[in-house]
Amino acid sequence: MQIRTKRLDITGDVASFKKQKKSIGFVPTMGALHKGHLALVERALKENDEVIVSIFVNPTQFNNTEDLDNYPRTLEKDVALLSELSEHIIVFSPSPKEIYGDRVISIDYDFGGIEHEMEGKYRPGHFDGVGTVLKHFFTIVDPTRAYFGEKDFQQLQIVRKLVEIENMSVQIVGCPIYREKSGLALSSRNKRLTQKQLEASLLIFKILTQVKEDFGTKNVIHLKDWVSKQFENDHELELEYFEIAKTADLQSIQQKQENIKYRAFIAVFAGKVRLIDNIALN
Ligand code: PAJ
Repeated sequence: MQIRTKRLDITGDVASFKKQKKSIGFVPTMGALHKGHLALVERALKENDEVIVSIFVNPTQFNNTEDLDNYPRTLEKDVALLSELSEHIIVFSPSPKEIYGDRVISIDYDFGGIEHEMEGKYRPGHFDGVGTVLKHFFTIVDPTRAYFGEKDFQQLQIVRKLVEIENMSVQIVGCPIYREKSGLALSSRNKRLTQKQLEASLLIFKILTQVKEDFGTKNVIHLKDWVSKQFENDHELELEYFEIAKTADLQSIQQKQENIKYRAFIAVFAGKVRLIDNIALN
């Protein structure tokens, strides 16, 4: 397993792959890897000659320094997990300086409105940070394909838009949400949950599946009210938002129309830990 920390080293690898006309699969992560991340890496291994996984806790996408400070950093364990998949993977784990130089700042993007919905509303600047770091990574790694989870569905749509805006040739591949048997979507943040919070968090997927079941017969306002009520007396969980939105542009709706794809999106606090999830409704 090769671990690269310097931009120059990784661009050297990339230049050599390009010369050999090899395809490059890229999986950007912030580390604390779990099976959800590993599923993306496995797919990248299947579909490409070479695979690069970045592990970088990107400071510009955190709008809360406490969240940034508390974000789990487990590089050694991450590398061991990746080695189990293939010794051939290249890990790129740069310092913030290596990516940003002395100016750790975001580009001010116009993603056409997607950035103002849901996560964008509650995490101001978050998607500018994600867009900025991915622009840097895509420039350095110049991947054939880059892999993203539908767990962060809004991020996936932002990345598709970023590639369009920046006129980059990378193909963006969306991958399904990896869940525990209980239904809880895997997240690096789950490690910070107490046993009680973990148990309570199972409500999130239960609610999403119920909404999916009822979507055909009940109206959107009713469903939204019902979801709010589920959290009213919950001592462990606090609902931040629940939205039903069009899959294509993530605009929230109050009323559904025929022949349009919709998803439900939810963000919940379990103590200080923020959990998000989503589901396709039709
Ligand atoms: P991170 O939260 O580490 O996630 C890295 C990738 O793994 C993202 O594409 C995310 O959607 C995917 N992922 C996480 N949990 C998943 C699950 N349970 N099932 C399927 N995919 C899952 O997302 C980021 O990092 C950052 O914003 C990043 C894109 C790396 C930019 O800094």
